[in-house]
Amino acid sequence: MPRIGKPTDLSNRILRLSLGSEAANRELRWMKEAIYEARPKISSVDFDATLKSYVKRRATGTPLTYVLGTQPFGPLSIKCRPPTLIPRPETEDWVTRLGQVISSVQSGSQSPISVLDICTGTGCIPMLLSCTSRSPITALGVDISEAAVNLAKENVTEAGLSGRIQIIKGDLFDDTFVRTVLSKATSQDGFDVITSNPPYIPQEEYDRLPPSVKHYEDQLALLGDRQGSGEADGLSFYHRIAELISKENLVRDGGILAVEHGLGQSAAVQNIISNALGHRVRRLEAWKDQWEKERAVVAFL
Ligand SMILES: C[S@@+](CC[C@H](N)C(=O)[O-])C[C@H]1O[C@@H](n2cnc3c(N)ncnc32)[C@H](O)[C@@H]1O
Repeated sequence: MPRIGKPTDLSNRILRLSLGSEAANRELRWMKEAIYEARPKISSVDFDATLKSYVKRRATGTPLTYVLGTQPFGPLSIKCRPPTLIPRPETEDWVTRLGQVISSVQSGSQSPISVLDICTGTGCIPMLLSCTSRSPITALGVDISEAAVNLAKENVTEAGLSGRIQIIKGDLFDDTFVRTVLSKATSQDGFDVITSNPPYIPQEEYDRLPPSVKHYEDQLALLGDRQGSGEADGLSFYHRIAELISKENLVRDGGILAVEHGLGQSAAVQNIISNALGHRVRRLEAWKDQWEKERAVVAFL
């Protein structure tokens, strides 16, 4: 292991100034671990130079995950880079729970559960479902962003899941969306499960986001008001998803629709789903996250 000398002391001082000593010590430890993990035989000189560059980026506001390059997500280590959204712990929470639900609902089934993940970002949702569900999963992840699609493909490949998860580029609001995804579905009746963590932040809230979010993560991944729609409540994506499911065979009867939403949006999202899908919804559940905040709506069809 390279000797850790003066540059690290200096790095420590710089980070302490911007983060406070407790967080600085913790983050420096993670940075060092990440450097060794990526390059176990790194020389002292290269180690110090890499650490300095990490500290510089962090001290000037780059989110830690982008500095380290990965985010833990359940048992997975998800590769992350700007501007693709960093997977959040609250997403990990409901997706883990969904994996358990899928396992119990589908227990005994030998054929794989098909999942469509709309707005897939890093691909973290279908990847975690593949790990947490006891039933075998095949999934299609779709995103409008080229950067996200490339990153998700890398993540899926590195996790050894490319035989089970396919990632494609697509725009939920495009007329060809349904035709494209259904051409990849294994059944004409649609997918077994649809998941989505779409952009859901209203414009007014987006304008007030801290620079650590707004300057690094894609506006496309955050802003829930579709441009030109006149909507200002962050709910454009839920209207579109519910509309498509009501008109097309996107999800089969007996299937599940699970969507994440922002704080205070649960009732509105439940209304959008029940109004659009009506009698097709057998049960609608509002799931809370690990901080007891309503975070996901799950419709059992
Ligand atoms: C909130 S992020 C979620 C990413 C990931 N699923 C997660 O949970 O970390 C929303 C994603 O939606 C994608 N997106 C935005 N508009 C879209 C559209 N019209 N069609 C498909 N994907 C879109 C963004 O590129 C972004 O990756």
